[in-house]
Amino acid sequence: MILETERLTLRPYRDSDTAAVHAYKSDPVVSRFADFEPHSPDDTERFVAFTQDASHDVMSLAVTIRGEDVVIGGVACWPTEPGVYEMAWEFRRDAWGHGYATEAAKALLGAVAATGSARSFVAHCQPENRASVRVMEKLGMALVRSGRLDRESKGQLVDTSYFEVEAPTSGSVPA
Ligand SMILES: CC(C)(COP(=O)(O)OP(=O)(O)OC[C@H]1O[C@@H](n2cnc3c(N)ncnc32)[C@H](O)[C@@H]1OP(=O)(O)O)[C@@H](O)C(=O)NCCC(=O)NCCS
Repeated sequence: MILETERLTLRPYRDSDTAAVHAYKSDPVVSRFADFEPHSPDDTERFVAFTQDASHDVMSLAVTIRGEDVVIGGVACWPTEPGVYEMAWEFRRDAWGHGYATEAAKALLGAVAATGSARSFVAHCQPENRASVRVMEKLGMALVRSGRLDRESKGQLVDTSYFEVEAPTSGSVPA
């Protein structure tokens, strides 16, 4: 799947993206609230290979600025139960604060919604991850549950904010 937005191209990861992906997968600031430790080069190679493996149903797209074929981040979406799709996002630190995560996630959410297979979209993060909370809000998601030390992340129990939005009907993805 290839998606174009006003500023971004979302496309499958390529082996040649590995160094660009490693630049942020190895950054401890990027992984601070994520469920992964900073990646080793092998971890990043495995990640890229995982995104290319068609035997699972996680849809992972690399994000580039239109016209510049360098990966600045990624968005992913996968079904957790029939009709419910979970979403996740991660971007290179110097790409933060430009609205890219929201723009990319909206495009992916819209594309999955357009297949007609989604009833709702969910996402979760640690409440301290304010940027991720904002992305969820800007996707039209609402907080549905706050968990207290209810989820394990990197070997520790963490608080979790769970967000959800009904799948938009065609053409009604929030602008
Ligand atoms: C979460 C992440 C993907 C957001 O990427 P981004 O491209 O900067 O996101 P956007 O620009 O679309 O939106 C970020 C919003 O958060 C806000 N924000 C950023 N840091 C914030 C903070 N510390 N406190 C409050 N709001 C904050 C921004 O102002 C923006 O909101 P606005 O448009 O209302 O001003 C990025 O920070 C990231 O890669 N983090 C590391 C990986 C990660 O934590 N992923 C999520 C795991 S759950």
